[in-house]
Amino acid sequence: MQLQKLSIALQKSGKLSDACMVLFEKCGIKMKVSKNQLLVQAENFGLDFIFARDDDIPGLVENGICDLGIIGENLLQEYNVDTLKIVTKLGFAKCRLSLAHLKTITCHSVKDLNGKSIATSYPKILSKFLTENQVKAKIVTMHGSVELAPQIGIADIICDLVSSGATLKENGLVEFKVIAESEAILIKKQDNFPDSKQILLDKLLLRIKGVLQAEQSRYI
Ligand code: PRP
Ligand code: ZN
Repeated sequence: MQLQKLSIALQKSGKLSDACMVLFEKCGIKMKVSKNQLLVQAENFGLDFIFARDDDIPGLVENGICDLGIIGENLLQEYNVDTLKIVTKLGFAKCRLSLAHLKTITCHSVKDLNGKSIATSYPKILSKFLTENQVKAKIVTMHGSVELAPQIGIADIICDLVSSGATLKENGLVEFKVIAESEAILIKKQDNFPDSKQILLDKLLLRIKGVLQAEQSRYI
């Protein structure tokens, strides 16, 4: 049987991107990446890497342009389609989606959000959360630098990803409610791969699991 190649979409730059490079290196998959090259072939594995904007990755996988993708769990929740599935969680890029306000205002409970405006890059997740908590607030969608919003009067509150908490701190913001937890995940379409691709995916997963296990045992 002629083995086909797999293609995988990764974030072009950012925290997730760096961690993905480390993962593939630990998996023994070699590639020569130059800074602006957006399509790179692995040298010793049937895998093509496509470097894209993270928001575009669910669509690339859903439309069959890429077989696999690595994204934050939060992005899959936001994209909200049942045609994609999680192949495995990857244990890195752990973060939380939280609500935060400026130090100068008080917000003790979710009910205090009534009548407020909230800036976020995750309007669907936030809207679901507000509905579940019977809160009426205005959602302002931003595609980055969300922490800027309260300081310049775009919104009262923010709902954004928090990892170390440094960005919140540097922008005078106080986290007051976690609404979702997230980590890096490997995604694919629900549909089964042909055998030729499934064999490669199994081989890749075996290596990824080995790396994850080795990492877990380091912490025990
Ligand atoms: C992410 C996230 C937060 C920050 C959290 O932003 O949206 O702003 O990192 O990390 P921290 O808690 O460790 O400071 P990113 O760097 O991706 O920039 P962007 O949101 O402007 O795209
Ligand atoms: Zn940000």
